[in-house]
Amino acid sequence: MEHDVFEFYIEAGKIASRVLIAGAREIRVGAGFLEVVESIEAMVTDTGAGLAFPLNISLNEDAAHDTASAGDERIFSGGDVVKLDLGVHVEGYVADTATTIDLGDHPLLLEASREALAGAIRLVRPGTSVGELGEVIQREITSRGFLPVANLTGHGLGRYIIHMPPNIPNIAIAGGAVLEEGMVFAIEPFASTGTGRVSEKPRIEIYQQMLIKPVRMPQARKILDSIRPRNGLPFAKRWLAGTRPDIPLHNLVREQILHAYPVLSDIPGSYVSQHEHTIIVTEEGCTVTTG
Ligand code: CO
Repeated sequence: MEHDVFEFYIEAGKIASRVLIAGAREIRVGAGFLEVVESIEAMVTDTGAGLAFPLNISLNEDAAHDTASAGDERIFSGGDVVKLDLGVHVEGYVADTATTIDLGDHPLLLEASREALAGAIRLVRPGTSVGELGEVIQREITSRGFLPVANLTGHGLGRYIIHMPPNIPNIAIAGGAVLEEGMVFAIEPFASTGTGRVSEKPRIEIYQQMLIKPVRMPQARKILDSIRPRNGLPFAKRWLAGTRPDIPLHNLVREQILHAYPVLSDIPGSYVSQHEHTIIVTEEGCTVTTG
């Protein structure tokens, strides 16, 4: 890997790791969802780095893709299992890291995803297959009595790209990609007390531009103008200026110019934990950029 590219990944990782630790301390019973999200996002942008995606804060059975809406009035409650998933980029090079804060009594659930991540990282070196990573993730989670979320995976990272091959499964699979020196990816095990599968909720707060195409509707054009500096990285509806983004956003999704990221959830009443690090495969093993 080119030297300065490596340095950008490391720098992004250091910022992400520091902000995730500081951010986790803001998740307390009674704290406001919106205030916490804005405060943690500002911790990133205050460093001069960029957000690779809006801060994801997902509660309880919600595994991923929730964030605060404008005017969000939710507060954190006793019993909540809170996933904090943060993406930072430096010159487009991404660090993706997540942790879970337990406002209830779920220490074993958190341990399951934490140990699954640690076990997978210990196996990372050139020649390991992604199926072997999935196998250890599944074993660490099921041995504690939970299910890995089978239809969420870790993912490769690139410049201004937050999802690309290789996919890192959270269950044992046959075959799959073989790791090579220089690969950069996130491993993100999710442990669930539910079914171990997520499905889409109607709530959508995060979008990403997929296609550059002329649009007629002035409000839609305004949205595309305002997100152009994202360079194709996801954005939050909350970030859009103006009061009524729903109809233009809906139209832009229908025209396949934007991709919508609905909140992904296991069954109601279940709890999901998540831990995530970004990794660069080295000759001998790996460097955890967010460690
Ligand atoms: Co990720």
